[in-house]
Amino acid sequence: MKSKGSKGGRHWSLRGRLGLPAVILSCSFFFVAGFFSANLLSQNINIPKAGVTARQLQSVEEEGETVQLNLLTPGFTGDDFISVIPFQFLSWRPRALYFPKFATAEQCESIINLSKPHLRPSTVALRKGETRESTKGIRTSYGVFVSASEDKSEALDQIEEKIAKVTRLPRENGEPFNVLRYETGEKYDPHYDAFKASEFGPQKSTRVASFLLYLSDVEEGGETTFPYEDGFDYVRGHDSRPCNGFKIRPRQGDGLLFYSLFPNNTIDPTSLHGSCPVIRGEKWVATKWIRDQEYP
Ligand SMILES: *[C@@H]1O[C@H](CO)[C@@H](O)[C@H](O)[C@H]1NC(C)=O
Ligand SMILES: *[C@@H]1O[C@H](CO)[C@@H](O)[C@H](O)[C@H]1NC(C)=O
Repeated sequence: MKSKGSKGGRHWSLRGRLGLPAVILSCSFFFVAGFFSANLLSQNINIPKAGVTARQLQSVEEEGETVQLNLLTPGFTGDDFISVIPFQFLSWRPRALYFPKFATAEQCESIINLSKPHLRPSTVALRKGETRESTKGIRTSYGVFVSASEDKSEALDQIEEKIAKVTRLPRENGEPFNVLRYETGEKYDPHYDAFKASEFGPQKSTRVASFLLYLSDVEEGGETTFPYEDGFDYVRGHDSRPCNGFKIRPRQGDGLLFYSLFPNNTIDPTSLHGSCPVIRGEKWVATKWIRDQEYP
């Protein structure tokens, strides 16, 4: 256990050789040394993975400059590299983030090719008293559920792994991908992805977050819309119904993540969302719903 502490010291003297002022170095040293000894007293420390002994430096481009980052020795299930996955924070109500260029055009096309032959009319979860007939017209897309393991190109596997990283939710909690195609006029009326037990009956688990990967551009229409973004005002500066709200235009390879639940596990009413009718072109999207427990 002692040797782990001295490893921390060696690490910081490496920074010194990189030319940082001696004052910062010694302050940092005592800070880290103090941190490690506090840690040593309070918890067990894992033995590092075989082959991963010294900490490493990794260079990352940041606004045109190369920045040197100090890496830690990861835990058994961690990475020994820095992930750079750019995102734009879109909204706090609902908590929504945008990931430009999350997937490559080739990955998107291969997912479309894989799914195309298996499309069926999409269905919706039924509330008590609802029937397939009474809910007809709410969701008019075609779709198919595909597991990452069914994709020989491994595109879905790579994307699923990346989604798990950015959501910090385990892969095991995700439903299979729901790959959807919306043709002209097709849409999904605003709805929640999380199911209220009072409306849908008891659930084994709850959907926490949704990740939408746009597999195609759409010439016109087909936006994802959040009519209640930032509150419940349907009209403020937005289009008139039926497709109003804060809209995200699909762009091939881009990802959209939003959370259906607040941190206290109740449904966020502003996570209501829909898919506007496609006006021109075709919309393809791969949706991953992530639950609070392993799925199924
Ligand atoms: C998808 O299918 C089209 C048409 O068959 C083909 O031209 C294209 O190369 C395929 N793309 C990928 C990435 O598999
Ligand atoms: C859960 O959190 C939301 C948002 O902070 C809050 O409005 C709501 O009252 C909370 N509900 C409960 C049951 O704590």
